[in-house]
Amino acid sequence: MKKLKFQAPTGMHDILLEDQGYFQKIYNACETVLNFYGFQKIDTPILENTALYEKGTGLTSDIVQKQMFTLRTKGGDHLTLRPEFTPGIVRAYLEHGMQSLPQPVKLYSTGPVFRYEHPQAGRFRQFNQLNVEIIGDDNPVLDAQTIQIFYNILSELKIKNLIVEINSIGDNQCRPYYKKLLVSYFKSRDASLCADCRRRLKENPLRILDCEEEKCQRIVSQAPQLIDHLCEECHSHFKGVLEFLDETELPYRLNPYLVRGLDYYTKTAFEIFTEVPKKTEGEPLLKRALVGGGRYDGLIKLLGGEETKAVGGAMGIERVVSIMKSKEMKGVKSATATIFLAQLGTMAKRKSLKLLEDFRKVKIQVAESFGKDSLKAQLRMADKLEARYTLLLGQKESLDGTIIIRDMKTGKQETIRLERIVKEMQRRLKSKR
Ligand code: HAM
Repeated sequence: MKKLKFQAPTGMHDILLEDQGYFQKIYNACETVLNFYGFQKIDTPILENTALYEKGTGLTSDIVQKQMFTLRTKGGDHLTLRPEFTPGIVRAYLEHGMQSLPQPVKLYSTGPVFRYEHPQAGRFRQFNQLNVEIIGDDNPVLDAQTIQIFYNILSELKIKNLIVEINSIGDNQCRPYYKKLLVSYFKSRDASLCADCRRRLKENPLRILDCEEEKCQRIVSQAPQLIDHLCEECHSHFKGVLEFLDETELPYRLNPYLVRGLDYYTKTAFEIFTEVPKKTEGEPLLKRALVGGGRYDGLIKLLGGEETKAVGGAMGIERVVSIMKSKEMKGVKSATATIFLAQLGTMAKRKSLKLLEDFRKVKIQVAESFGKDSLKAQLRMADKLEARYTLLLGQKESLDGTIIIRDMKTGKQETIRLERIVKEMQRRLKSKR
C-alpha cells in the first residue's frame, strides 16, 4: 500500500468509531461513581506554563527531565502540553480562591495528557486520563477513599484481577534520614547498578527502588525499607489508611519498593494494576498499571498557597480500553433507529425533511439516506440498519397526503394519512416495549 503523506504523529492515535463506545462506557462509569462521592468536574487548559511542571511535577522526575512537549509562543512564553493534571488543578485551586470553599474540595477531570515517551504497547505520547483530587484535608480516610473510588470504577467496568499496591514514602521529617541510609547502602554497591540508577543515586535515590532491571532489583531486595524508618506522624497516618482499607474489605498488597515517579508525593503512594493476558503460553504474567496516585501534602505550598494537604490519583483510559477489548467486553452502543424513512421524487424529499423534524421533536430516532434517489438503494440501507419499519413517501403519496408503513419483518404494508404518522409510530413503538 502506498505510504500516505500525512500520518498521526508517533505515539498518538485517532480514536475511531469502534473505540468511541469503550471510552463512553468508561466515562459513564467514572461519572456515576464520582457523582456518588460528591466530586465536581473541572477543566483546565491543556497548555500551562512550563515552570508550573518544573516546580510541581519536579525537576528530578522523568517527566520533567525527558518527557515534556514544550513550546515557545510568539509572545515569548514557555508553555508545556500537560504531562499530568495535578499541577494544573492545584494552580486553578489557588487562582480561583477555592481555599475559601468548604474543604476538602473534590475535583475530577478527564482529557488528554502528553508525554514524550518511547511508544510501546500501552505507552503512548498522547493518552487520556481520569484525574481525581481531594484538596484541603489530611485525614487518612481520604487516601483510602481515593483508592476505593478507582477500585470501584474498575470493578463497575468488570475489570478483573485487580492488584492494589500501597506504600508510604514518608515526608520531609523522615525521608531525608532514610535517603542518607539508602545512598550509603547503594554507594557501596554502585558498580552493580545500571547506568540509570547510578545517575539516580545522585539525583533521586528513591527511584532506584522501583527500577525494573534485574541486577538492580537484586540489590534493592536487601536495601533498608522506608516503612521501618517512618516518623511517628507518617507511621500513624499509614496505619490509618490501611485500617480504613481493611474496613472496606478492599484487597491490597504492601509494596515497600513502590515510590512513584513524581516529586511531590508524601506519605501514601499507590498503584492499581491488572494482569495483562499472555500472548504465548509460558510467557511470564505482565502487570500493567491502570491507576497511580498518592498524597501530596507539600505541593500547594510549593506552588504559592498556604499549607494545604491533598491526595489524588489518575487512571489511564487507553489501558482500560485495551483490557476491555482483550476480554471481548462491549462498549456503549450508539442508539440505533428502528424506523427508516425512504423517499422518491423532489416533492417527497421536501416533505421527508419536515417529517424528520417532527420525529426529532417527539424524540423518535429515524434513519434516512436523503442523498440517495433510488428506492432500491434506500431499502437496502434500511435492511442493513435492521430497521423494524420503513416509511415510504413516493410521488403518489406526496400528492395524496399519505405515507406507507412497511413492516420489515412481515413485509406487510399499510397506507395512512401523513399527518397521523408520528402518532401512529409512537403508538406502535410503545406497544413493542
Ligand atoms: P501517573 O502514574 O504518572 O500519575 O499516571 C497515571 C496513569 O496514567 C498510569 O497508571 C497509566 O495507567 C496512565 N499512563 C501513564 N503514562 C502513560 C502512557 N505513556 N501511555 C498510556 N497511559 C499512561 C499521574 O499522572 C499523577 N498526576 C496522578 C495523581 C493525581 N497523583 C495525585 N493526583
